[in-house]
Amino acid sequence: MNIILLGPPGAGKGTQAARLEAQRGMVQLSTGDMLREALANGTPVGLQAKAVMDAGELVSDAIVSALVGERLDKLKGRGAIFDGYPRTQGQAEALDLLLSERGRQLDHVIELVVDEDALVERIVGRFSCAVCGTPYHDLYKMPKVQETCDTCGSHEFKRRPDDNEATVRTRMAEYRSKTAPILPYYEQRGLVRHVDGMLSVDEVSDRIDQLLAGDSARS
Ligand code: AP5
Repeated sequence: MNIILLGPPGAGKGTQAARLEAQRGMVQLSTGDMLREALANGTPVGLQAKAVMDAGELVSDAIVSALVGERLDKLKGRGAIFDGYPRTQGQAEALDLLLSERGRQLDHVIELVVDEDALVERIVGRFSCAVCGTPYHDLYKMPKVQETCDTCGSHEFKRRPDDNEATVRTRMAEYRSKTAPILPYYEQRGLVRHVDGMLSVDEVSDRIDQLLAGDSARS
């Protein structure tokens, strides 16, 4: 099964993709993570993408689609969860080609429907352990022991440089103008399902599970 999680910044795409990966043995393909990894490794792609990401704008279709193609080649038959890709009509068309070249098809496009105003708080408050990546939030999930990771005991934490209010607003505007308009492309193929992304993390997971279970029962 190959699915796209679609929604604005902070909608919960990464959170739900990680859960699906753990529960279903699928592979999370996050273009944001791929670009941050490229930057951390000092690759030309990463260095080229840095200024664009810091501004909250979109990296070129050619760069991200090439990254996705490379990752798809390593999946060995496991299903893919596309997290943050595609984000433009050009990327949607590129993904169709990438999948068909590999004998894969798209099963669902799950749109996480959210209230954008609530998302700024979600994003600006998030941080993670710099060693093991365990996610935290200033308001909803602080470490149990002050400045100590619950999972690995590290005292180092990090925040994404693009998680400030001004950049988040630009990222949301990019979503509205370039990403939301690709929904009809998938709607006309009957692929789009909507899930209320304002529910709790567990409830959103349950809704996605129900949706995917219904699909398995039909096939
Ligand atoms: P990317 O890394 O993809 O960021 P994004 O789309 O802005 O999404 P986020 O990771 O911010 O949010 P999310 O929906 O994954 O939410 P999360 O689960 O983390 O992209 C970053 C940049 O890279 C882009 O701006 C662009 O420059 C570039 N880029 C990436 N892909 C690209 C592409 N395809 N083309 C061009 N450029 C690209 O949740 C957020 C917070 O909310 C967390 O704290 C979480 O714990 C919390 N939370 C999640 N769900 C819930 C819930 N249901 N209730 C309460 N809290 C919740």
